[in-house]
Amino acid sequence: MTGGAGFIGSHVVDALLGDGLQVAVIDDLSSGEERRVAAEAEMCVVDIVDRTALEAVVRRVKPRAIYHLAAQASVVASVEDPGRDCDVNVRGTLNVLESARLVGAPVVFTSTGGALYGDAAPMPTPEDQIPAPLSPYGASKWAAEAFVNTWSLSGEQSHSVCRLGNVYGPRQSPHGEAGVVAIFSYHLFAARTPKLYGHGRPTRDYVYVADVVSALLAASGRSGTYNIATASETDVATIWRVLQQVAEGSGHGAAATGERIEPELADLRPGELQHSCLDVSLAARELGWRPAVNIDEGLRLTYEALAEEFQAA
Ligand SMILES: NC(=O)c1ccc[n+]([C@@H]2O[C@H](COP(=O)([O-])OP(=O)(O)OC[C@H]3O[C@@H](n4cnc5c(N)ncnc54)[C@H](O)[C@@H]3O)[C@@H](O)[C@H]2O)c1
Repeated sequence: MTGGAGFIGSHVVDALLGDGLQVAVIDDLSSGEERRVAAEAEMCVVDIVDRTALEAVVRRVKPRAIYHLAAQASVVASVEDPGRDCDVNVRGTLNVLESARLVGAPVVFTSTGGALYGDAAPMPTPEDQIPAPLSPYGASKWAAEAFVNTWSLSGEQSHSVCRLGNVYGPRQSPHGEAGVVAIFSYHLFAARTPKLYGHGRPTRDYVYVADVVSALLAASGRSGTYNIATASETDVATIWRVLQQVAEGSGHGAAATGERIEPELADLRPGELQHSCLDVSLAARELGWRPAVNIDEGLRLTYEALAEEFQAA
């Protein structure tokens, strides 16, 4: 799999190992961390933009399936450097497809539901809505999807696209620009003042990482494009308020000691949407997949796990 040292990828690695499979991780560690990768997996430090190096690993490992999660995954970074975003997300994905063809492996590609459809889309948004991305990241994921679908139609393997909502859960980094659940958790733990962009009003479709993992496993060997989210939207201010309650009652971090942390309100950043909510009925019908963790439970599980990570750091 690619991107296995990242937030979501490391959970996919654990699930595959838990199913008794052998796993090789391809990751350049640009945002991922080797310590997240289970010791039983083989770690290959490779940039997917380097086709020769990627093919050498894939030929040697001969995977039965490839989960392709490696990406330039930051909207803000894509606005700052759209060229690198395109290299990794488009050229890198093409390289993964070509490597997969060499060994006859199906690919599951993680695209974005949150950055693809634009602000004018109906809510919840179905997969047949024509994308209107506002950022280079959304555009590069859409372009990469086209390659995945074309390779699926014209080749011998079935490749699938999973358009993820806003994923949250244990191991998400609180130090990036995205991932509000991890960022807010850190601020509550360490008594820092967070920024609520869009004045806390933007909504997102937050999906717990374990639910994403089960969807990706269900999508392997299928050819189709699936929204993977919960079909419900939550605004940023609500995420902050619920996490604050969880943190105050948790016994971990500054918020649990009674320290009241108040957020700062700020404008939305370039490339960010006002609203996002995904129709997930196709994944339910075709993959038999449904999210199992609701937002209150997911936020509680996430804060508890992240607080332990912060404590240990
Ligand atoms: N987290 C979310 O909410 C979310 C939402 C929609 C889609 N996605 C997609 O899911 C996938 C995983 O996202 P994540 O949140 O775990 O991000 P992440 O940044 O934690 O993981 C991405 C991984 O890819 C690796 N990587 C980046 N560029 C690489 C390259 N050129 N060669 C090899 N490895 C490279 C990074 O080191 C990292 O380990 C990405 O494709 C992302 O676009 C994530």
